[in-house]
Amino acid sequence: MSRSQNSFLPCVPPLPACHIPPAAQTPGVKVLVTAGPTREPIDPVRFLTNRSSGKMGYTLAGAFVHEGHSVLLVSGPTNLDVPENVDFIPVETAAEMHDVVSKHIGRMDIAVFAAAVADYTPASVQPQKIKKSGDTLTLELVRTADILGSARQSFGFRGTLVGFAAETENLEANARDKLVRKHCDLVIANDVSQPGIGFDSDHNQVLLVYPDRTESLPAASKHELSLQLVDAIVALKKLMVES
Ligand code: PMT
Repeated sequence: MSRSQNSFLPCVPPLPACHIPPAAQTPGVKVLVTAGPTREPIDPVRFLTNRSSGKMGYTLAGAFVHEGHSVLLVSGPTNLDVPENVDFIPVETAAEMHDVVSKHIGRMDIAVFAAAVADYTPASVQPQKIKKSGDTLTLELVRTADILGSARQSFGFRGTLVGFAAETENLEANARDKLVRKHCDLVIANDVSQPGIGFDSDHNQVLLVYPDRTESLPAASKHELSLQLVDAIVALKKLMVES
């Protein structure tokens, strides 16, 4: 089958909450992928969220399966279908994503964090819809747990750790800072201020920021790019195992 065919397009209906189907019998490595935005509730009808369609994470999950690996996709709310043969756990909030990742990451060989996790969440959730009572409204926000940043020390993950960096300026420098601070083996950096790539788009252009070098990949569809990313990440894992 040609690599340009989208055989790993998300193509089955979303699964019910917390249902994990049996994993495909694949000889490859075990991969955890996070994707989509999180939703942080303010009251029963409102929430804070980040921009993310989930396309990058879902196509990456599909590409790992296409290449013979088994994948657990942990995703915030999206309109996408879950790619075939991908195990799936849906979540809403950053705290839920943190809990699910902490439970499952220990048995993974590779973890890739493509989710756009909210960095702040309301300090308290109002039980009733907030009424309009003034010209301004102040919300108190508190930091969410850094899930990627917890992988090494809190979760004790020893496999290949890959983060994303969504930046609007100083792409490489900011990505390299995340690589070091979050103890990653690779950060995939995308400039989300550029039209036609990044959020929502079917295309992306990324820098691969490794501890010792940076590689630039040309703009491509998220499907083509995902296959290149899988090759790069699996090669990195092999190098880490051999060294
Ligand atoms: O979903 P699409 O519409 O296809 O768009 C794709 C994308 C732009 C969302 C994707 O390519 C991307 O860049 N994902 C990461 C978005 C992001 O939130 O990046 P960040 O630079 O703020 O976070 C850095 C890393 O830490 C990311 O791997 C993120 O998943 C992780 N993180 C961040 C905060 C947090 N509380 N926990 C985390 O795990």
